[in-house]
Amino acid sequence: MSHIAGRLSAVKPSASMAVSQAAKDLAATGVDVIDLGLGEPDFPAPAHITEAAFAAARKERMLYTASLGTPDLRKAIVAKFRNENGLDYAIDEIAVANGAKQIIFNALMATVEEGDEAILPAPYFVSYPEMVKLLGGLPVTPACPAENGFRLTPQVLEAALTKKTRWLFLNMPGNPSGAVYTEAQLKALGAVLANYPDVMILSDEIYEHIIFDGRKFVSFGAACPELRDRSLIVNGMSKAYAMTGWRVGYAAGPNDLIKAMATIQSQSCTSVSAPAQIAAKAALEGPQDCVAEFRAAFERRRDLVVEGIAKIDALSLDPPEGAFYAYIGCTALIGAKTPSGQTLEDDVAVAKYLLDEGRVAAVPGTAYGLSPFFRISTATSEAVLEEAVKRIAAAVAKLEF
Ligand SMILES: Cc1ncc(COP(=O)(O)O)c(C=O)c1O
Repeated sequence: MSHIAGRLSAVKPSASMAVSQAAKDLAATGVDVIDLGLGEPDFPAPAHITEAAFAAARKERMLYTASLGTPDLRKAIVAKFRNENGLDYAIDEIAVANGAKQIIFNALMATVEEGDEAILPAPYFVSYPEMVKLLGGLPVTPACPAENGFRLTPQVLEAALTKKTRWLFLNMPGNPSGAVYTEAQLKALGAVLANYPDVMILSDEIYEHIIFDGRKFVSFGAACPELRDRSLIVNGMSKAYAMTGWRVGYAAGPNDLIKAMATIQSQSCTSVSAPAQIAAKAALEGPQDCVAEFRAAFERRRDLVVEGIAKIDALSLDPPEGAFYAYIGCTALIGAKTPSGQTLEDDVAVAKYLLDEGRVAAVPGTAYGLSPFFRISTATSEAVLEEAVKRIAAAVAKLEF
């Protein structure tokens, strides 16, 4: 008899972590693999941020903090939302958790009843559907194809909404597509949502600062202030400040939801670690040049990958508008024959072929709910990306169409 609870039966481990593990396993056998599976900035967290945590830990004891985060950090987050997003939140409308992922998990746990639906426009971040399923909900995953810039349209939203819809998730810039929404596009979605008062909106804005071609980021909260009472604006330190391992995410939302999330947090992890919260405060309140530098580096890498992929006829990639991924269309590869005589049936086979033949680890589009694509992370050096694109081109050139 299995000791594992039934609720886990439909839940998959993270596909991007699995790809990275496969790449690491191969590398451990001495094979030269380029791992473009995981999305982590490759820069170190800026020194003033890490130093703030060290200095505090040397000077004072690091104790449990309030479940929702220290008042100091939450004040810094209130200021961040006001100054960067034009949003006015009180300190009791702010939650801090171990990454945006825990924020999302807590929010779902606080709200989702068995059979409730969450609309997750596809392609979506791999963890969304698994968290929804883990908590008894049903992911509804309308396709948002490349022709629409991978964006949810009002028509597609309207068709996905039902009496059971509890959440709509938006993610901008999007992982894996990089899609960004304009204010007008968000308002058009807001107009549909106005007719569905029971639906809550989770806007995952963790890639806010990684946005290209001079675009201006507009928070869902700023575009649709009339939906404030049922919007949860999610953000975090991982991407903007290269702080993935510090595990600090945060959100602003209605006080009843934030209070429920605090209860869950207090009975599970208690709080985010105290030094990490001190680092997060230093990041939000300190100099912001690092954010601009990271953004510029990610844009150069985006350009390099777009240029390289454009030279491979069988692949397609419109320039991602933000984030640090390239979601590469591979329709033309489906049905192609590999040098060993195998037919590439789907994007899982394509990703496997790229790993076996090209020694490049990429995540198949199936993991993000929209195929056939594969995702590469561009959060690595230009030299590595150049080599990866070369390897992908060489592997594709060996296929028989
Ligand atoms: C869209 C999206 N949301 C959330 C996360 C996780 O963020 P955190 O490190 O704050 O948990 C990621 C990480 O890849 C992401 O891509």
